[in-house]
Amino acid sequence: MLHVDDEFIVNVRYQCSAAVPVTINVLGYILIVIMSDVFSLSDCDVVGFDLDHTLCRYHLLETSRLIYDSFARYLVEHKGYDKELLTLTPDRWDFCFKGLVMDFEDGHLIKLAEDGTVLRAARGTKILSTEEIVQHYGKKQEWQHFNSLKGSFTRSAKYYFYDNYFDLPGALLSARVVDQMLQSGNQRILDFWKDMMSAIDHNYNTSAFKENTGTYFPSVKKDPGKYLQPCSEAVKAWLRSLKNAGKVLLLITSSHSDYCRLVCEHILGKDFEELFEVVITNALKPGFFSQIPEQRPFRTLVNDEESTEGLPSLDKPGWYSQGNWAHLHELLKTMTGQSEPQVVYFGDSVRSDVFPASCYGNWETVLISEELEGEGAQTSDMKSKDADAEPLEKKGKYDSKNMKTPSAPSEQWGSYFVDVCKGLEEEEEEGSLKYTWCCHSINTYSTIAIPSIEAIADLPLDYKFPRFSPNKPRTTGYYPRPPESLLRMSENSPRE
Ligand SMILES: *[C@@H]1O[C@H](CO)[C@@H](O)[C@H](O)[C@H]1NC(C)=O
Repeated sequence: MLHVDDEFIVNVRYQCSAAVPVTINVLGYILIVIMSDVFSLSDCDVVGFDLDHTLCRYHLLETSRLIYDSFARYLVEHKGYDKELLTLTPDRWDFCFKGLVMDFEDGHLIKLAEDGTVLRAARGTKILSTEEIVQHYGKKQEWQHFNSLKGSFTRSAKYYFYDNYFDLPGALLSARVVDQMLQSGNQRILDFWKDMMSAIDHNYNTSAFKENTGTYFPSVKKDPGKYLQPCSEAVKAWLRSLKNAGKVLLLITSSHSDYCRLVCEHILGKDFEELFEVVITNALKPGFFSQIPEQRPFRTLVNDEESTEGLPSLDKPGWYSQGNWAHLHELLKTMTGQSEPQVVYFGDSVRSDVFPASCYGNWETVLISEELEGEGAQTSDMKSKDADAEPLEKKGKYDSKNMKTPSAPSEQWGSYFVDVCKGLEEEEEEGSLKYTWCCHSINTYSTIAIPSIEAIADLPLDYKFPRFSPNKPRTTGYYPRPPESLLRMSENSPRE
């Protein structure tokens, strides 16, 4: 879940890079980790999960529509924006694509290569030509804030990184607002951003679920099955097998306790609390991992209300709010009896989950990337499972029939993992293939990447996954298979 404030990395003490097998942990000790080439769940003492888009898969089409409507209705009803924003034809969804950055200075949305090159850009919803990109960003096509974004993912007053399905439909909405502003000759493009932030807050803030405010929570409460996909029997059995194998199971989500309970009951059943020894809600990631030493204390919850007093330490398992990695780590030592418990964390966001958990927490990380499904990773048994899900999305309730899912490659933006960078120079006419910055971040900060938990639920716990490594081809680390675009790219360059 998303928060407008309080999610900042306040104190980036170390530039984090997993490019060398040396991890500098937050206490400043240098741990030389001789890493094995493979990763296995059976080597972990603790298995932690993010909830939304990780343990819980959403019906992405329905949910994206709902989120778009939630934000658009706020702009129209509360801020007087043109009500044309409320109508949306299905073809518009091709524009909705994860990993884009909105630059507030010019209102552009941009797709970045791993070296900060602008691969593609849009002004409003209009994709710029190579000439326009060169004119705007110079011959090298460099984005000026790349150094500030890379390596820390810090929130900025200058740009916004779309890395999460909860805010992604806002990229399409923002671009449409910029279209309208350009049409009406409004020069002050970026004033709308604070309205977008209010739209997020209005729909997702701490009291919105309880008070039934905004559009998002009331809709999910009314018809959870329309948005949430229950975990399959295979996933439930896999969770139980982890527990039976003596692993400590954790849930760490930035969603609030009330929404978390609704989601978990729907996807796992009323007895979901028996699975997890520690549940942490309103965790305010990535600050949960990164804010040291100014860490937020854990708080107890009574009827979903947080205690005003924070806890000085975390002494026993249970359900808590907020908190920080350091106090949790102490508890995990006691619970596992290990001086350095091996922890793996599953999450869908590079910025909020995988990057901070690996860099600040020194945990293994499994990235859930639904983008892999759009690029050929769908296994045959996932297809049969999707037979349940598909009618709902294909029936064309709403006009989702021809709607591209936000996780699929886009006509306008290409692949999430690689792209062709065209320049104006003659020798570059063909363009050069480049890894996207998102692909680079996956390679750098995650141990492995998978399209869903379902995709590994039938494997034995001691299955050995080849892990991402700077010494290995970029295609290593994806299970069950690397994205198609990346495979094609490796075929073209023998080095990789
Ligand atoms: C959450 O948003 C609702 C609707 O805008 C508002 O009435 C409420 O005061 C907000 N609550 C918090 C805690 O910000």
